[in-house]
Amino acid sequence: MKELSFDETEMIVSKTDTKGTITYCNSLFLKLAGYTENELLGAPHNIIRHPDMPKIIFKLLWDTLKQDKEIYAYVINRAKNGDYYWVFANVTPSYDHKGKVVGYYSVRRKPSKKSIDIIKPLYKNLLSAEKHGGINESEKIFNDLLSSNGGRYDQFILSI
Ligand SMILES: Cc1cc2nc3c(=O)[nH]c(=O)nc-3n(C[C@H](O)[C@H](O)[C@H](O)COP(=O)(O)O)c2cc1C
Repeated sequence: MKELSFDETEMIVSKTDTKGTITYCNSLFLKLAGYTENELLGAPHNIIRHPDMPKIIFKLLWDTLKQDKEIYAYVINRAKNGDYYWVFANVTPSYDHKGKVVGYYSVRRKPSKKSIDIIKPLYKNLLSAEKHGGINESEKIFNDLLSSNGGRYDQFILSI
């Protein structure tokens, strides 16, 4: 399986409803994911989930969104043919005119090599903890890491 590349000036965009069902993807998203627009619209966003992603990161993503907050995260995604690509993603709630959350919006950019060199071993650790002792064990490792880096995920992730 090969790593797919894209330019640092490009942005990969998708939108979902409140349950994480895809409602929009831009052309770069389609190109990298290797699916047609028909296959993606109406599909759950985990259609591009890569098995190397630790569950704890998606738990944090959904917990944060449900608190009406945005999140930044490094994510490895899987194309239809098994190829992969790393992204630095920002995911935010979208609101209607009454302030009610109507869905979520994600913009992803090419991550720096320096940050991916930090994230890869971290996710590897989290995944092996998860395989060994479930999400509780990976959560413990994750919280310990955050404690030794100032205690806050958002500060940690934007600092690497
Ligand atoms: C706007 C938005 C964008 C998302 N983008 C991705 C993504 O690029 N890759 C991914 O694996 N999950 C993404 N997710 C999270 C998925 O909805 C899902 O939680 C994740 O793939 C893990 O699958 P699971 O929840 O079935 O375990 C996104 C969610 C939202 C709301």
